[in-house]
Amino acid sequence: MSNTQARLPRPVESERIPLKARKVSFSWEDTPLHWVPGDPFTTHTINVLHLLLPAGERWFVHVYKQVLPYIRDERLREDVIGFIGQEAMHSQAHDEVLPHLKDQGLDPTPYTAQVDWLFEKLLGDRTLPPGRPRRWWLMERVALIAAIEHYTAFLGDWVLNARELDRRGADPTMLDLLRWHGAEEVEHRSVAFDLFLHVDGSYARRVRTWAVAFSALVFLWQRGARFFMENDPTLIDGRATFMDFHRRGRRGLLPSTGAMLRSIPRYLGHAYHPSQEGSTEQAVAYLAASPAALAAEKSQEEAA
Ligand SMILES: [Fe+2]
Ligand SMILES: [Fe+2]
Repeated sequence: MSNTQARLPRPVESERIPLKARKVSFSWEDTPLHWVPGDPFTTHTINVLHLLLPAGERWFVHVYKQVLPYIRDERLREDVIGFIGQEAMHSQAHDEVLPHLKDQGLDPTPYTAQVDWLFEKLLGDRTLPPGRPRRWWLMERVALIAAIEHYTAFLGDWVLNARELDRRGADPTMLDLLRWHGAEEVEHRSVAFDLFLHVDGSYARRVRTWAVAFSALVFLWQRGARFFMENDPTLIDGRATFMDFHRRGRRGLLPSTGAMLRSIPRYLGHAYHPSQEGSTEQAVAYLAASPAALAAEKSQEEAA
């Protein structure tokens, strides 16, 4: 293999899954506040997803609708349209958990207002002249999404395999939400990166936007976990520290610090391709058995 070939992104799976949005719905009335029993820290660290994803995934959809005219490959266009459908559904499903948290005394509004500002204003459409500046900002956001999707696929793969959550008696409805979403993240894990390669693919941009995405995710996640722990009405002195996170990672209740650190050089490697991570087969198998995905399929069949 020549040096140039060794440096090219290498997809490892040739089969392609047509992406479809599954119109799932969940009922939250039986889900307890601490849905990982006796473990508010793990519960709330994972709950941060419900704070970030509604606005974050709406933003993915918003940006991708703008990039559609730049796609000159029919297959990729179909993948991006499938991706948009799935992310819109993810955003809605996580949004629907928020009223349930509020009913249990955890009003997420002070935090979600900031997240909405971040995605809608800071990362939104700026008043830029048409031409290069507008295209630069669009490409920057496409690259940011590719970097974020490295982590959504990482988390999706993690939650599909997080048997410790089952052993601890985690709420089955919340686990199904997380695993349905995680499985679709694994299923569509190559789309954002393929799109980035198609419209730009600059390595400097990949590194720069990874640094921004990673720092923002760490910052927002620790703040979100702290927000929930401090505002949890059942905790007198709720705290969230890095050691809490590290210990849960060692027990398999959260992703381990080591696995997270090891994922960094993989994304920055020249030969990286998201298909090298996770298992499409496992994701498809979960989606074929997920109670919410099965119910969605049944109601779509009945409506047809
Ligand atoms: Fe998603
Ligand atoms: Fe995604």
